[in-house]
Amino acid sequence: MSLFSLASFIFEAFSQAIIREFIANGAGGFILATVLGAIVIARIIPEKRKQLRGVIAPIFIYVCFILLAIILELNGQVSYSDYSRALATAFVSVSLINLGSLMLFDVILGGLHLKVPRLLRETTVILTYIVAVLVILSSRGVNVTGLLTTSAIISAVIGLSLQDTLGNIIAGFALEIEHVIKPGDWIKIEPYVGRVKEVRWRQTVIETRNWETVLVPNSQLMKSQVMIYGQRHGKPIQTRRWIYFNIDFRYTPNEVIGYVNDSLQANPIPNVADDPKIHAILMDFKDSYCTYAVRYWLTDLAADDPTDSNVRIRIYYALKRAEIPLSIPAHSVFVTELNNKREIRKHEQLMEQRLSAIRNVELLHSMTETELKELVEHLRYAPFARSEVITRQGAEAHWLYIITKGEVAVKVSIASMNGNGSSKSLAVEKEVSRLKAGDFFGEMSLMTGEPRSATVVALEEVECYRLDKEAFQNILTERPEIVKDISRIIARRRVELESVKKGLDKEAGKEQVEQTQVRILKSIKDLFGL
Ligand code: CMP
Repeated sequence: MSLFSLASFIFEAFSQAIIREFIANGAGGFILATVLGAIVIARIIPEKRKQLRGVIAPIFIYVCFILLAIILELNGQVSYSDYSRALATAFVSVSLINLGSLMLFDVILGGLHLKVPRLLRETTVILTYIVAVLVILSSRGVNVTGLLTTSAIISAVIGLSLQDTLGNIIAGFALEIEHVIKPGDWIKIEPYVGRVKEVRWRQTVIETRNWETVLVPNSQLMKSQVMIYGQRHGKPIQTRRWIYFNIDFRYTPNEVIGYVNDSLQANPIPNVADDPKIHAILMDFKDSYCTYAVRYWLTDLAADDPTDSNVRIRIYYALKRAEIPLSIPAHSVFVTELNNKREIRKHEQLMEQRLSAIRNVELLHSMTETELKELVEHLRYAPFARSEVITRQGAEAHWLYIITKGEVAVKVSIASMNGNGSSKSLAVEKEVSRLKAGDFFGEMSLMTGEPRSATVVALEEVECYRLDKEAFQNILTERPEIVKDISRIIARRRVELESVKKGLDKEAGKEQVEQTQVRILKSIKDLFGL
């Protein structure tokens, strides 16, 4: 026989064996079905593509072992060919189990929004691998029962040496099944506080706020006392925080708590819950001061220090506005000589400073120097933090503000119709104007008794002086003619505000200023009894 006819004989025998194996015995159809299944999964859940390697790679190895088995058979080495087939079956089983796991856990249960814990899923897959190996062995005539008895003894020996590891794995199971600690929970396990990243076979991974990762053995986690932050049955996730500050005995607790509560509750602070409301309480009496705490409920448990800081800033400004100083340490010695002349001089300096701050304010242009001096006596210093709401649209007015530092935005909220034409309204906020040092606001309501026409927000740190209605009462009663100038300014602003509300150009309603002025003049006169 020539070399060529020998080669064609081998090729023919090999191709026939391949056709028999992959087409007649159906292995080819089976491979095709598995590959199709993998393609379907890759389409439905693209993020699982990486895991499909566990389906495709074993199929490839399976084909290699089958080809090897065919070659061995053709070569007459039947028993080796048998081993090769057994290995091929093992690999195809791995591929099938992996495909089945993706179908069951990701496609079906994932589609039903049921999330199976990773540990449970991995255990199911491993147990299925073991069952598959046992079935393959038994089909090859291996005595599986005998093997299991021997392996029971081996497992006992291994079990003893792996006691700790097994303890961790069992604890890991308990954690998964009881579901008390889940990824995302903030927990404290002495001495660590952190967010649970995942519960693994042997350990639970915790990430701390300092960007450290702590691996806590599951068995230790089960034995220790663990505190889960911010969880109360049926309630949103939030945790209570305390911010302490000290105020001396000159100020009554009611006064301090009232001011701080009003200011902190007036407008929301990021990450501070609405319910329960942020509030101050008196915590303790010390040598020369009271200790207060502002308590609030933190909604983003990761942002503890930044939120504490925001709350402290708000407390600081609230106290500054109320002219309540934070307490000075008790051991301070006050050596100021209290003498009358000095007091008077200090007062005069302060009044002079304030007088120059209000002299150029448009609203007060028609007032004489004596009237301005009278007003100055009523001025109260009022600083605000950035983004603090100074007056809120619709609120009752108590003060008129003169800005001495910083910038504010005047915003008006307008009810707009729903897109579908239903009467239910949505509020849209528009900026009307920006005011700076030397400007004033809050005059519309203080002078007319109407609710606040707009919301005024501090765009940066703002310092103001504020004046109450009584400050104007005497001056207006003495010289009612001043009211005319004031009413013109208010009317101009009111018309501008209405134009912005209606979406018109600010100049649009200028001719209405006069009519509006008449109405405002009457309101001022009524309110001040002129
Ligand atoms: P008041 O209504 O008491 O409170 C909101 C304040 O916004 C208002 O007084 C004015 O001082 C101010 N304001 C309203 N409209 C304007 C405007 N068009 N220009 C400047 N300030 C305004």
